[in-house]
Amino acid sequence: MINQLKTEMKTRFGIARRDVCIVQSPYRICPLGAHIDHQLGRVMGMAIDQAVYLAFAPSGDENTHLQSLTFDGEVSFALGDVPDKIEGDWGNFPRGAVRALQQRGHKLARGITGITAGRMHEGGLSSSAAIGVAYLLAYQKANGLSVSPADNIQLDQAIENNYLGLKNGILDQSTILLSQRGFLTVIDCARASHKLIPQSPDLQPFDILIAQSGLRDALVSTGYNARVDECARAARALLNAAGRPDQQPLLGNITIEEYETHKSLLSGPAAKRAQHFFSESVRVLQGIRAWRKGNLAGFGRLIAESGRSSIENYECGSEPLIALYRILIDTDGVYGARFSGAGFRGCCIALVDPQKSSAAMEHIRTAYRAKYPELSKNASAFICHPDDGARIL
Ligand code: GLA
Repeated sequence: MINQLKTEMKTRFGIARRDVCIVQSPYRICPLGAHIDHQLGRVMGMAIDQAVYLAFAPSGDENTHLQSLTFDGEVSFALGDVPDKIEGDWGNFPRGAVRALQQRGHKLARGITGITAGRMHEGGLSSSAAIGVAYLLAYQKANGLSVSPADNIQLDQAIENNYLGLKNGILDQSTILLSQRGFLTVIDCARASHKLIPQSPDLQPFDILIAQSGLRDALVSTGYNARVDECARAARALLNAAGRPDQQPLLGNITIEEYETHKSLLSGPAAKRAQHFFSESVRVLQGIRAWRKGNLAGFGRLIAESGRSSIENYECGSEPLIALYRILIDTDGVYGARFSGAGFRGCCIALVDPQKSSAAMEHIRTAYRAKYPELSKNASAFICHPDDGARIL
């Protein structure tokens, strides 16, 4: 991929190979902590050895010119005149990155000329955050800026929240920026801090199986934001009951004791969203203990329970994703499985015994094809492993 990108930079833009920088920005998985980052919960993630790549060179003036091996067309704009979001356009990410940097007071004088490449843009593995981070790192390098990972997390969140309009949390970009191979990244979204927890020597080897559904859609057009609003309604009711009506309506601002005391006041979707938040928060803590002890079976069971709660309490799956989840948890060799990202489209992940992963993939492909012959034409299953976070090579 790197070689191909360098060749394309020469062919398309006449830029010599030695002048090309490459950003490798990995996709991520989230074993536990589904949909609780935007409520200030604690979540966990790992970067994987599949990534988006951005080959770039400073453009020499304030103009940006971008092409893609994945998407059609060229994206061009000037730093002094960044257009607003264009629905569904891949140029939203570089434009959003520049806006985020400028709004935080970073002076950008140089645009970039570049080409992107990435295989998995259908969702669930955080391709949006991965490409957003890639552009941030490229503009920083081109302009000689030094920005900490903590600031880059906020900058990428600004691309998603402010420019794209998705009310998501910091799970994706934190995992992409902070992960290290051999560690579990645990992110405390209330404190915006993180811990890297080493893999126990007792932990059995595992493969990460990614099963794609073939469903593609931008997250902003799904029920993601509606669920966030339902969490806010639950939080508002619980904060009123706890005598703190002025606090920001986020479920992370309520203790589990307060929730237990007042939960009978909640009904309908608000009750279910709160139940998901508090049960998932407990699962994350239990998951950290299981990981530390090297208890892969226990870790896997929690992942499967998280998947069930996402379906029953958070109600965020689409039918094909739910079917895929059910196929996965019934597959021999699978320790646990769940939606990989938001669960409306994209993929499911599973942790699998490496001895059984080939047979598991075959079984999953056949079972999914039988249920969704049309979707399965765009679906695939593959194995990957944990990796380091985003970097300029
Ligand atoms: C998407 C969002 C994240 C997180 C997950 C669900 O990936 O971008 O912020 O909410 O869904 O856990």
